[in-house]
Amino acid sequence: MSDRAPVGVFDSGVGGLSVLGEIRRLLPNESLLYVADSGHVPYGEKSPEFIRLRSQKIAAFLLEQGAKALVLACNTATAAAVAELRARYPHLPIIGMEPAVKPAAAATRSGVVGVLATTGTLKSAKFAALLDRFASDVRVITRPCPGLVELIEAGELSGSATCALLREFVEPLLAEGCDTLILGCTHYPFIKPLLRELVPESVSLIDTGAAVARHLQRLLAERALLTAGPALAARFWSSADPQQLREVLPLLWGQAAAVEILPV
Ligand code: DGL
Repeated sequence: MSDRAPVGVFDSGVGGLSVLGEIRRLLPNESLLYVADSGHVPYGEKSPEFIRLRSQKIAAFLLEQGAKALVLACNTATAAAVAELRARYPHLPIIGMEPAVKPAAAATRSGVVGVLATTGTLKSAKFAALLDRFASDVRVITRPCPGLVELIEAGELSGSATCALLREFVEPLLAEGCDTLILGCTHYPFIKPLLRELVPESVSLIDTGAAVARHLQRLLAERALLTAGPALAARFWSSADPQQLREVLPLLWGQAAAVEILPV
């Protein structure tokens, strides 16, 4: 495998662009491929079996495009599918993501941590194991956020509908004394500015995009797969109408780009 090969990244939709942005910041020489499975969003309300099937298909597609590493830029897909993908591709660097329970448990002063994530992530055995491992000394209040991902997919990052929904999810957590909020879905960093308006300054907001980029850097370095570049332009595929992704890319990726139809 050449170090010039691209890194393949996927999510149920546009959420993983928050992670792709962190990868681009940390590793500007890497060429990037991105799949938005927006034809099947939200994963959060789908069965683990369905998500495993989609993840297998998308992983195989990215490998056909020559990916040297895979990033599951989706907490929900990681919970459902990362173990199976690692078993299937034992030599491939595969990076998943999970809600930042460990850093949040270390950071909280009130001892109450809130987790905003999808229904699928919060119901998963992986999340239960994470709580057992790192959250025995703190109180963790979980809050699934149905409907939020769809608004972010539509580029509604600050409108009144998004604001009202977010307020409904967050206010009960604040009332319980939570001083640390985990953004346990890769779509949510895009509404951080709105969230910041709804919660006091003293509440920390934690997400894991930057940590995932650092983990990718470590795994590539260990395998001598970090490239000196230069990076090729990032390539994008969507399983929904590509025009939808084209329209939100300037907002969520900072620039316009071509989007191809995902053939799987
Ligand atoms: N972005 C995803 C995550 O990190 C999934 C959102 C969804 O499709 O429900 O969990």
